[in-house]
Amino acid sequence: MVCTVVAGGFWGDEGKGKVISYLALKDKVDVCVRTGSVNAAHTIYFEGRRYALHMVPSTFVYDKCRLLIGPGVNVHVPQLLKEIRETGVEGRVGVDRQASIIEPKHSAMDKSDSHLRSLGTTGWGVGPAVQERAKRSAKLAKDVPELKSFLADVSEEVNAAIDANKTVVLEGTQGLMLSLYHGSYPYVTSRDTSAAAICSESGVGPSRVDTVLVVFKAFITRVGAGELPGELSKEEAVRRGWFETAAGTGRERRSAPFNFNLARRVAKIHGATEAAVTKLDILFPSCKNATSYDQLLPEAKDFLAKVEKATGVPVTIVGTGPGALDIIDRRSSL
Ligand code: IMP
Ligand code: MG
Repeated sequence: MVCTVVAGGFWGDEGKGKVISYLALKDKVDVCVRTGSVNAAHTIYFEGRRYALHMVPSTFVYDKCRLLIGPGVNVHVPQLLKEIRETGVEGRVGVDRQASIIEPKHSAMDKSDSHLRSLGTTGWGVGPAVQERAKRSAKLAKDVPELKSFLADVSEEVNAAIDANKTVVLEGTQGLMLSLYHGSYPYVTSRDTSAAAICSESGVGPSRVDTVLVVFKAFITRVGAGELPGELSKEEAVRRGWFETAAGTGRERRSAPFNFNLARRVAKIHGATEAAVTKLDILFPSCKNATSYDQLLPEAKDFLAKVEKATGVPVTIVGTGPGALDIIDRRSSL
């Protein structure tokens, strides 16, 4: 495993933050590039603390990892600086000179535009910021004095790391069903969320990637408007223990059972080579905190086998609890 892309399965919130933080500690990830923008929060439980990171890469838990913000990102400067302080990573963050800046006016536009309201956007302003970038009038990181000490050439750095056989993670956000191109348009985010787009936003060509890890949750959740096949009532979601609220906005998430047909399509478009399944302990409580496959009940093993059959790739990482190390890692048995 040299260069791994981590991409989301359905409508985001699958636990990419947790999976990436595990990889950081286990594989000693040297360099991570965060893509996307501030609308996506990645939740990490580490050393007794909970972090909901909108900007800083989830690999920050490994203290030698270089933390990069790719050129495709819309940087929310106050949020980035706040997270850098909270995580204490000032000396190892780099922001690409060409990353664009998301400003208060973009959030105001997001919150006042009736069309965007009807889609149930997060209100952070990412759609309007992308619009401004496409118009080629966006402010870039190199124009922001507070970012001066962090400026970097991310594609140079990350490609040099790959050349040197270092361990690299490209961190995706959201899930394929929120992709501007492949998702349930118009109820999608303002960018492509596929593995290929994560590479493009980081400045890494497709031939340089070794592993495409698609992260699924054992059930599906969605925030905002748009279809959700098999959607449960809130009462049923609560009864099953599937009811969640969003890490970023606090909104209630809708939920539905895992969708094997959709998983097949998602894995194909991402070009997945491996899958992760998180929150298996929510479907099968006896799995809680398991760290070996042998500890799983036959029903849980059957579920993972069905995911493998649908996606055509091995389920290598299984989440069994919120902590970064509540993981079954089957990669060595590949
Ligand atoms: P926007 O990305 O804020 O424009 O919102 C567009 C749609 O994407 C809305 O349905 C949001 O709820 C959804 N969305 C954006 N970011 C995330 C995320 O990180 N997790 C889940 N849904 C998201
Ligand atoms: Mg999230």
